[in-house]
Amino acid sequence: MSVYYHENTQTFHLTNGQISYLMKILPNKTLGQLYFGQAIRDRESFDYLLEMKYRPMTSYVYEGDNLFSLEHCKQEYPVYGTTDFRRPAAELLQSDGSRITNFTYRSHSISPGKPSLPGLPATYCESGDEAETLTICLEDTLLKVSLYLHYTLFADLPAIARSSRFENNSRQTLHLTTAMSLALDLPDCAYELLHFSGAWARERHMKVRRLEQGIQSVESTRGHSSHNHNPFIMLRRPGADENCGEVLGFSLIYSGNFLAQAEVDAWDTTRILLGINPFGFDWKLSGGDTFQTPEAVIVYSDKGMGAMSRTFHRLYRTRLARGIWRDKPRPILINNWEATYFNFTEEKLLSIAKTAKEDGVELFVLDDGWFGARSNDSAGLGDWNANPQRLPGGIARLADRVEDLGMQFGLWFEPEMVNKDSDLYRSHPDWILQTPRRSVSHGRNQFVLDFSRTEVVEHVYTKMANLLSQAKISYIKWDMNRSITEAYSVALPSDQQGELFHRYILGVYALYDRLHTEFPNVLFESCASGGGRFDPGMLYYAPQGWVSDNSDAVERLKIQYATSFCYPISAFGSHVSAVPNHQLNRSTPLSTRANVAYFGTFGYELDLNQLSPEERDEIRKQIDFMKKYRQLIQFGDFYRLLSPYSSNFAAWMTVSPDKHTALVGWYKILNEVNGPYRRVKLQGLAPDIDYVIDGTVCQGGDELMRVGLLTTDSAAGERQKGEPAAVDFDSRIFVLQAKNKREPA
Ligand code: DGJ
Repeated sequence: MSVYYHENTQTFHLTNGQISYLMKILPNKTLGQLYFGQAIRDRESFDYLLEMKYRPMTSYVYEGDNLFSLEHCKQEYPVYGTTDFRRPAAELLQSDGSRITNFTYRSHSISPGKPSLPGLPATYCESGDEAETLTICLEDTLLKVSLYLHYTLFADLPAIARSSRFENNSRQTLHLTTAMSLALDLPDCAYELLHFSGAWARERHMKVRRLEQGIQSVESTRGHSSHNHNPFIMLRRPGADENCGEVLGFSLIYSGNFLAQAEVDAWDTTRILLGINPFGFDWKLSGGDTFQTPEAVIVYSDKGMGAMSRTFHRLYRTRLARGIWRDKPRPILINNWEATYFNFTEEKLLSIAKTAKEDGVELFVLDDGWFGARSNDSAGLGDWNANPQRLPGGIARLADRVEDLGMQFGLWFEPEMVNKDSDLYRSHPDWILQTPRRSVSHGRNQFVLDFSRTEVVEHVYTKMANLLSQAKISYIKWDMNRSITEAYSVALPSDQQGELFHRYILGVYALYDRLHTEFPNVLFESCASGGGRFDPGMLYYAPQGWVSDNSDAVERLKIQYATSFCYPISAFGSHVSAVPNHQLNRSTPLSTRANVAYFGTFGYELDLNQLSPEERDEIRKQIDFMKKYRQLIQFGDFYRLLSPYSSNFAAWMTVSPDKHTALVGWYKILNEVNGPYRRVKLQGLAPDIDYVIDGTVCQGGDELMRVGLLTTDSAAGERQKGEPAAVDFDSRIFVLQAKNKREPA
């Protein structure tokens, strides 16, 4: 891994043998982008990549020169209005009303490892040789504003982490109205844009569109990364698939309003911008102030989307997630939400926990409704004291009783919210976000606490920390059930209201960080009405997140398949729930519900007391199975095999690092009659190893990957006597175990 700087040509080259990233100081001393892609050998000059051409209707930087225009140069961190007309990475409003800036090269430094970003989630290193960081300092000399561009190259991953920091060294007060984490100009537009969009209960569905001249983007304006869009996009060459072709992934480590945008200009170049959404953003930068953007990560793959995903999985699972739970198999849990909703007593909860314990469940999670006057969703939110009618001995006694059963105890919170019918709101009506003299909208009868205020965060911290200190709580589910409206803080001056959304999320991060540090043994699971804040920012504090409120096995295939493009399987909160499913009213076999939920953290979202003895028997087997294979599932290498977006089938698999064990999940959505004789080609196995499939048939890794694993069932041809009937929503898990190593041919 090396970061080269060639003084004579003023060229930077970051390369680790897998990728190369090339930049050059342009004739006007701004920073240009030359290349990002598969590694190339280093040399002094790549100046042929600089475009210097005369074109009519072009504006040129220097009088008397008709060649150098920023419109036709690939740039590193572009600004608007100095010959480039595309959307900028930065914009600074000055006291004279001007927004024109000119950031030119001043210096750079190269250091081992990776510095942390104060107050923000970010990838990290555990030793200096894991990564190298290049920081380039640019300066607008007229404004006396420095701009630090940070680039971290990871030693053995085709990934670069980027962020920017602004420093106002003048006495003038400026307003930063755009500050992207990443800009990348690419020399052509022969790509498809993939994004992961949807809504509540159908989060992160994969969408594909061709890049065309103009702007295409996804964003959030809701105060959280949202169910509707995710801060992750991909560019894929037409024809690229899971195993081959060029793919670029762009991910923002942030949980608030974001923008991910691709702009194709008239000459087919593509500009990617990723960062805090400039819509409504306005950060006051007084003299001496600095502003640090969140971090963005770019991953390059020349071996298709699968390899890109495995890079993100490794980076985010091992160098974004933190704490003692990072590398530990996750406990199998039971959550009472869909079992009881708000209708429970301590005894009812204990009866669910006791049965679950008998079946092998390890963690009992008490969801919403345990506090204040919370007997439905219109009261009590914000009052984090146990309801004495429901829990006469408080949380501490319930936690003790659960622990006495031999299980761990987990608890639900929604720290950022309040009902008007609550003691908290009655004492602090000014603590909610609201615009003066205007009505304030509700979502699920609740209002958003002003987390930009330290006293508000402090109050919530004290309540949560007290409970965590008094009761044996091993897990916290941190929920967030509405988007932000009337975004305004009475604590901020008028010229800082544009900071609110970012300050809010910084408050959320601060509380998470404090609790995570003070209670390092607690496992946090993030949640926002399901997957409304399932993003890399959350992963830094909570190594797992509730993927979606939709736990229907068929819908989950699409959600989990698409979520796996960026996020590791160890982060997927996935449960078996009752049928008919509470979101879709669909009934799927218990086996399929588990076969989908295994690919995640696994748990149950139902009352096991309601099941038949046969179903209980099946549940016990499922739990034994998950205990045996969760290390492999949560920490193995994940491969997508068949997409539920393009057929009646889905399949995926996970392979152990030594390639000796693999699990294949195969799912058929609707049954067929007299269907084909089917097989699916596996991936990631060792070609020279023989694998025993489900303890019976033995096939070579080469065969399994090149010929395929037989997945056909009794729907092929006519069902024979004694053959199990194939049904709708059928599925199978295949366990592959290495038999012996075959000598290479
Ligand atoms: C939304 C979550 O996604 C659910 O799992 C549950 O915790 C409810 N909130 C409780 O109000």
